Amino acid sequence: MPDPMVLTYEERGGGPALILIHGFPLNSSMWIEQLKGLAKVRTVIAVNLRGHGYTEVDNTDGFSMDLFADDVAATIDDLGLEQVDLCGLSMGGYVAMAFWRRHAGKVRSLIFADTKPEADTDEGKAGREKTAAAVREQGTQPLLEGLLPKMFGPAPSDEIVAATRRMFEATPPEVAAADLLAMRDRPDSVADLSGITVPCLWLHGEGDQLMPLDAVKAHAASMKDCTFVAVPDAGHMSPMENPGVVNAAMTEFLNKVAPKKK
Ligand code: MLT
Repeated sequence: MPDPMVLTYEERGGGPALILIHGFPLNSSMWIEQLKGLAKVRTVIAVNLRGHGYTEVDNTDGFSMDLFADDVAATIDDLGLEQVDLCGLSMGGYVAMAFWRRHAGKVRSLIFADTKPEADTDEGKAGREKTAAAVREQGTQPLLEGLLPKMFGPAPSDEIVAATRRMFEATPPEVAAADLLAMRDRPDSVADLSGITVPCLWLHGEGDQLMPLDAVKAHAASMKDCTFVAVPDAGHMSPMENPGVVNAAMTEFLNKVAPKKK
């Protein structure tokens, strides 16, 4: 596995640290509303995974959820932090699950957003390979056509669709292709959920077209200490589509986990 790297990030606020991990093929700018809205209760740190946003890489060797998790751990160490609240959306959630397996001692609480614990099915894995090959040949276009329209609930604003499109376009095709193969190879995390001993919040857009809400809700219910919040008027990008509900749920949860000292 390549050496872990310290990631670039956007930071806002003060007090205990909250790390936000974006989804595929996105970057830290998907968390603008959380950087603003949660700054009162946390030092909000939205990282750019390797190859994404301002975290540039020379090559995409060895991309995996484990490597991404180790990069997040290296960034936490570099910031001199001992424990953090860790939140990941979709692929970021897969990274958070890997992080829990590898660095549980650094986790004060977990927030999963629009993600799922299952590994890819054989059909899903074949789809990843096909899409990765198409992206290598044609660039971002296959993702803009195939994935972008499925990222939102029934009525996303033009502004949110445009901002998400910009993130798709900013991700180098070779990075997107390597992400796809890394997601193809991620292990199943279902068995890990019952071993999560820290408080957990699970947010999921009611209109998530990529990951149906009911299956995810059942996983949250199987956990020791997990609050599930269905986010109305939102699809897969619930933190962008309905930041009011997402930020209120996160604020309440984080205040219970560790209130910011006045
Ligand atoms: C994401 O939003 O990060 C991806 O759609 C997740 C996936 O493809 O499994």
